[in-house]
Amino acid sequence: MQNQIKVGFESPSNIALIKYWGKYGEQLPMNPSLSFTLSHCKTLMEIEYTSSLDLELDFYFENKINNKFKEKILKKLIRFIEIFPWIQNARFVIHSSNTFPHSSGIASSASAMSALALCLVELDQKINNTKYIDSNKDFLISKLARLGSGSASRSIYKLGALWGKVDSLPTSSDEYAIEYNQIHSNFYNMNDAILIIDGNEKSVSSTAGHELMTNHPYRESRIRHARENLNKLMDCLIVGEFNSFADIVEREALDLHSMMMTSSPSFILLAPNSLYAINHIRQFRSSQNVQITFTIDAGPNIHVLYTQKDKEKVETFLNEHFLKTGIAKNIIWDQMGPGPKVL
Ligand code: PMV
Repeated sequence: MQNQIKVGFESPSNIALIKYWGKYGEQLPMNPSLSFTLSHCKTLMEIEYTSSLDLELDFYFENKINNKFKEKILKKLIRFIEIFPWIQNARFVIHSSNTFPHSSGIASSASAMSALALCLVELDQKINNTKYIDSNKDFLISKLARLGSGSASRSIYKLGALWGKVDSLPTSSDEYAIEYNQIHSNFYNMNDAILIIDGNEKSVSSTAGHELMTNHPYRESRIRHARENLNKLMDCLIVGEFNSFADIVEREALDLHSMMMTSSPSFILLAPNSLYAINHIRQFRSSQNVQITFTIDAGPNIHVLYTQKDKEKVETFLNEHFLKTGIAKNIIWDQMGPGPKVL
């Protein structure tokens, strides 16, 4: 029997500026998406492997056996057997934890699935002595992460990532994300303060939301919009122009939520306080001339993005207007990050 092999990674979450919403085939994106990698919101995962007759798994979340997560991870592992046949004869003991609080409404699938992919590729190297060329290894990790959860494909790079085929970027692909680093210094260390408007689990899963895009009446125009927004955003990122950046990022977030509102069945994930926060942020920007904007994922929480230049002013505003008033139940202070790390 093979000796025990232990691997571990921490992997961050990411925030999409151009949103992935809708898929085809085996978790391939309907349109390309672009994200900033986060720093503090991450998953820490350690895997102990021993060879075994059949696939076996013990899954601990925050040091406690968690059978709900075990079932989810087992399904993913079975899916990965096609890529790594040795998984069929592996016994895994997985310990996983998140740095962000429970019931924050922050999805952990991007950080968790990217951590899992990083660990499995590392195990493959150790078990089979597999040698990878650097970029091929990244693409494989990103592909595995994608099969776990689409947005996870973008969590494995520092600063920024792009997932989906874009003609102007020859290495881009629907199968995996690539690093995106054509970012002006004005956007370096961009802050992301996540206003927790509602920390409960969302009423409609991303999986269900993606599915509703397949026959959505605005499907074709959404694909066109996302591509146009992506091209404009890439231009802004290169030159460091904030106002157009804010305009595109906000319209993308609202486009995503418009798709939810106009799908059949229709659903609304924004809460009254999400709209209150949006209006307040816009007013603050125009009256104070500060570099602040927002984006929103599939939920009511607002990601407030702001540059280093206005950090102090914005954080005072967020504390005073959202935390002290109870509009936000909590604020998670995050920023652009350096990507995954070996544990
Ligand atoms: O990776 P999923 O299937 O949870 O989808 C994520 C979708 C959004 O967070 C709304 C957008 C994105 O690109 O991350």
